[in-house]
Amino acid sequence: MPAKIAIIYYTTYGHIRKLVDATAAGVKAAKGADGAPLNAEVTIYQFPEILSDEILAKQYAAPKDTSIPVIKATDLPQYDGFIFAFPTRYGRAVAQASAFFDSTGGLWASQALNGKMGSIVTSTATQHGGQETTVATTLPFFAHHGIIFVPIGYKSKLISTTDAVQGGSPWGATTVAGPDGSRQPSELELELAAYHGEHFASIVTKYVS
Ligand SMILES: Cc1cc2nc3c(=O)[nH]c(=O)nc-3n(C[C@H](O)[C@H](O)[C@H](O)COP(=O)(O)O)c2cc1C
Repeated sequence: MPAKIAIIYYTTYGHIRKLVDATAAGVKAAKGADGAPLNAEVTIYQFPEILSDEILAKQYAAPKDTSIPVIKATDLPQYDGFIFAFPTRYGRAVAQASAFFDSTGGLWASQALNGKMGSIVTSTATQHGGQETTVATTLPFFAHHGIIFVPIGYKSKLISTTDAVQGGSPWGATTVAGPDGSRQPSELELELAAYHGEHFASIVTKYVS
């Protein structure tokens, strides 16, 4: 049976959305060791917004993509795995992600997500502004739900290049947006995001089968 994967994202300026599109393409392209397509299914959602229109306007936030559904806690149990994608705020996940996890108390009580798999994609303005701490400080949500964290490790050679500014670590795909947000995800970062999707789909598929 094909793995069912949800990608749930938040973005203010669009960087994370670009990584999400590449990650989703990676999930769809994932193949088994024999080269046969895994046919993993992917559905993209957005985290619910918690900021007022006034604050979003002051942040110069990009308009929401209204074609993407907003996730509800009750959507989660139907999936085998989740890739959560959000930018850093003060070295941690955006409050929109925390608020959403707060809404999953009923699922926590019934442990409906226990044994499912999860992965994290993130973005910072600066190279050392919290790429890894954002992932690490999200892990308590996983632990309390019993969600199994899937990092990407060092299998992809893309993580180990040092000749240019680049996101991406064994914890997962990332981008560096630049202090004014003008830097866009590089080809290498998008390639790593696609790898993240492929890797996650292959691990979840092995697990569900
Ligand atoms: C309130 C606030 C806090 C932020 N904190 C950090 C931070 O701790 N480290 C960092 O590098 N960038 C920080 N940023 C920058 C965002 O992470 C950056 O705008 C984001 O990664 C861009 O992704 P997006 O276009 O998908 O929103 C912060 C931005 C805001 C608005």
